[in-house]
Amino acid sequence: MFGTLLAFFAGSVAYFVVNSLLVSMVVGLSTGKAVLPVWQRNSLWILGYDIAASTMALAAAWLYLQFDDGLSRLYFLLFLAPIVGAKHLYARLNHVQHLYDELDHAHDKLELALREQLEMMVKSIEARDPYTSGHSRRVAALSKAIASDLGINGDVLAEIENAALLHDVGKIHAEFAPLLQKEGRLTQEEWEIMKTHATKSAELVGLFSRFQGHVRSCVQSHHERWDGKGYPHGVVGEAIPLGARIIMISDTIDAMTTDRPYRKALTFERVVTELQKYRGSQFDPGVVDVTVNSVTVRRLVSDRAFLAEQTTTRSLALGRVRPALRSQSSFFDAVRVAARDGE
Ligand SMILES: [Fe+2]
Repeated sequence: MFGTLLAFFAGSVAYFVVNSLLVSMVVGLSTGKAVLPVWQRNSLWILGYDIAASTMALAAAWLYLQFDDGLSRLYFLLFLAPIVGAKHLYARLNHVQHLYDELDHAHDKLELALREQLEMMVKSIEARDPYTSGHSRRVAALSKAIASDLGINGDVLAEIENAALLHDVGKIHAEFAPLLQKEGRLTQEEWEIMKTHATKSAELVGLFSRFQGHVRSCVQSHHERWDGKGYPHGVVGEAIPLGARIIMISDTIDAMTTDRPYRKALTFERVVTELQKYRGSQFDPGVVDVTVNSVTVRRLVSDRAFLAEQTTTRSLALGRVRPALRSQSSFFDAVRVAARDGE
C-alpha cells in the first residue's frame, strides 16, 4: 500500500514537473526568455496545489475499486460531481476576477487623469508666481511629514497631503495675478482681495467629488489661526481641521526657508524660534511641538535632495487604493485557491 502511494506521488510530481517545464519551454522559446525563470514565475508556486489536487484522482480510483460489479462501479462518478462543480465555480470566479481587474485598470486610468489635472493646476499657479516655484509640493511633503509624526496614516494622511498640495490653487483666478507679481507690499484693499484665495481654493478643490469633504475643509481653513484671528472665518482652536493647522505651519516653514526677493532663506533654527514664538496664538501648540522635534521635517528643510525625492509626482498621494475592489480580489483569490484544491 505504502509502495503504491509512493509510486503515485512520484508519478504526480514527474507529470507536473515535466508538463510545466515543457509548457515553459514553449513560452520561453516564443518570447525569447530563459526557460527556468519562466517556469519559476508561472509554475513553481502552484506545483504544490497541483500535486495536492492529484490525490483526488487517487481517491476516485480507490472508490472505483471498492465495488466489484459493473454498474455499481459507476458510483465513483458521484464523487466526481462536486469536482466538476468546483471546476465550474473556479471558471466563474476567474471571469468575475477578470471583471474586477478591468475595473481596477479603469480606476488606474482615472487616477492618472486626475493626477495630471492636479499637476496642471499646481504648475499654473507656480507659473504666475515664480518666487514660489515648487512651494505647493514642498508644503505637501512637509505636511505629510508632520501628519505622520502626529500618528496620522491611511486615507486621512493622503487627504491632508492632497489638501496641502492644493491649498493655494484658487490663486489661479485672474484677480490674483497682479497681486502675485507685485514687487512691493500689498495695499489694504489688495490684501483683502488676496485673503479671498482660501475660499476660492476651496471652491476649486470642491469641484473634485472626492475632495468635497475633509480636503476641501482643510484648504478652506489653511489661514485660520489657533487664537481665532485668522481668515476667512476666524475659527478658533480645535474647531479648525487638524489638516489645516498642519498646512498653516508647513506653509510658514516653506515661506521662511526659501529665498524671497527681499531676503535670503532662513535656517531651520530661525523657523523653530518663530514657531515657538507664535505657539498657542497663530499655531496649534501640539502641532508646533511635534514639528520642531521632527527629524523628517528638519531633513526636508535642510536637505534639498531629500526634499526633491519626497516631492516627485509619484510620491503625491493622489492615487488612493481601491479598498473595496482590492478586498474583493483577495476574497476571490482565496476562493480560487480553495477551488484549485478541489480540482
Ligand atoms: Fe494660502
